[in-house]
Amino acid sequence: MQALTPSQDAGIFLGEVSKTFGNGSQNVLALHKATLEVRRGRFASLVGPSGCGKSTLLYILGGFESASSGVVQALGKPVTGPGIDRGVVFQEYALFPWLTVAQNIAYGIKSKGASRDEVSDTIQRYLKLMHLEGFGARYPRELSGGMRQRVALARTFAYQPDILLLDEPFGALDSQTRELMQDELLRMWQSSGMTVLMVTHDLHEAAYLSDDIYVMSKRPGQIVAHYASTIDHTLEREQIMLSPEFTELHNRVWLSVREQVKASLSASGAQA
Ligand SMILES: Nc1ncnc2c1ncn2[C@@H]1O[C@H](COP(=O)(O)OP(=O)(O)OP(=O)(O)O)[C@@H](O)[C@H]1O
Ligand SMILES: [Mg+2]
Repeated sequence: MQALTPSQDAGIFLGEVSKTFGNGSQNVLALHKATLEVRRGRFASLVGPSGCGKSTLLYILGGFESASSGVVQALGKPVTGPGIDRGVVFQEYALFPWLTVAQNIAYGIKSKGASRDEVSDTIQRYLKLMHLEGFGARYPRELSGGMRQRVALARTFAYQPDILLLDEPFGALDSQTRELMQDELLRMWQSSGMTVLMVTHDLHEAAYLSDDIYVMSKRPGQIVAHYASTIDHTLEREQIMLSPEFTELHNRVWLSVREQVKASLSASGAQA
């Protein structure tokens, strides 16, 4: 792959993307020539040290931040701003505070022109799926952090975007709910053919869900390693988690991330 040229079946493409925040003396170089390609229909995870630029990369793909330089494409088209083709679940699970839970869930499919019946069916389906029955008429401020996160997931899952960008989407959930949501995401991805890029700190989660795992260096972030999974995602969770393929993938990624985190900690120590 050429650093600036995506292949034909690229779902997500970043070619030598750099990003500097601020102006003048307070500049922060968040990304430096980050190159990443996720083929259409693949499930990819992005892992790396805290502060290395993972969220920045995701927001650039979402069109909420612009790159300082480099090529950014979604399904072969340049990213120039947010779009309904890309669904983003933010790290802070931003909901519309002036809309109820049901209205938040319906937002995306309404924008796509769904009928009244479709909207109402989707709301019921996702309230049930996300264990939020009885909360449809509540506002986000009345919910716990984990419940808000489930509404944010429901809102994005409900309209099935071509590209799904997730920033630590299960961070606020207890481990059991987290497993349920992971399996729901897996089912949705398998039945829809969408391209997924998920940022996570949980390497078991990355190894369980992904076709491809990309490791980022310490800031300024670059992609420094890629691990392709050989796991059959149609198997049951227990079979996957207990398989030698899972253990090997997890351990390889763990060692790689560990190296980057160590480099990141010694760099911040040197600065102190
Ligand atoms: N809007 C902004 N203005 C200025 N600096 C920013 C902004 N957003 C991010 N940064 C800086 O860019 C760097 C990368 O931040 P980013 O949020 O992308 O990291 P991350 O890898 O997602 O970290 P974490 O794993 O902790 O979520 C950090 O040094 C951060 O301070
Ligand atoms: Mg982040």
